Amino acid sequence: MLAQPLAQKSLLEIGGGIGSLLFALLKGGVDRVTDIDGSTAYIDVTRQEAAKLGYAGNIDFIHGDFLDHHEKAPVSDIVVLNRVICCYPDMHGLVSRSLDKTKELYGIVYPKDNWLAYLLTPLANLYFKLQRNPFRTFLHPTREVHQLILDHGFEMISRSTTMVWQVCLYRREAG
Ligand SMILES: C[S@@+](CC[C@H](N)C(=O)[O-])C[C@H]1O[C@@H](n2cnc3c(N)ncnc32)[C@H](O)[C@@H]1O
Repeated sequence: MLAQPLAQKSLLEIGGGIGSLLFALLKGGVDRVTDIDGSTAYIDVTRQEAAKLGYAGNIDFIHGDFLDHHEKAPVSDIVVLNRVICCYPDMHGLVSRSLDKTKELYGIVYPKDNWLAYLLTPLANLYFKLQRNPFRTFLHPTREVHQLILDHGFEMISRSTTMVWQVCLYRREAG
């Protein structure tokens, strides 16, 4: 993604966590950022880090579930969801609404749906359940996520993978 020209672009990050990606993109030239996150603790940490790094004036925060607050989120040049699709049951709603906010580039990081992931996801959720942790992880089929994005008028411009994750970048097609 950093190979793309970022200067003066606006960024919407959904589920920014502690802000590592948004800070990298600010350093790469992005101008305005909106971070919407369901966790106040993560927002507080990101806000403190932004002040330290001199970006306090560049970031707006929205607390809550993106699907509940999507109307407040600005349409932005770049929209990213880094390891967020797998935290959310309604992939269709999350991806569709976030694509509606994207003028140009749409970046997502989410798990590959190979046999290992199909084996490990229920085990991970069983572990969370036994720990009385309400968090659950969701393995959304790559084919469905990819097709939904294409159906919204985007083309894939890059994809790279690790053992677990796929990092996919899409661009809105002209016209
Ligand atoms: C696994 S963490 C990833 C954090 C960060 N993007 C990273 O990769 O380090 C998932 C983040 O997404 C947020 N999140 C998950 N679903 C969300 C939703 N529907 N709306 C807003 N934030 C959400 C969580 O609060 C959390 O900060």
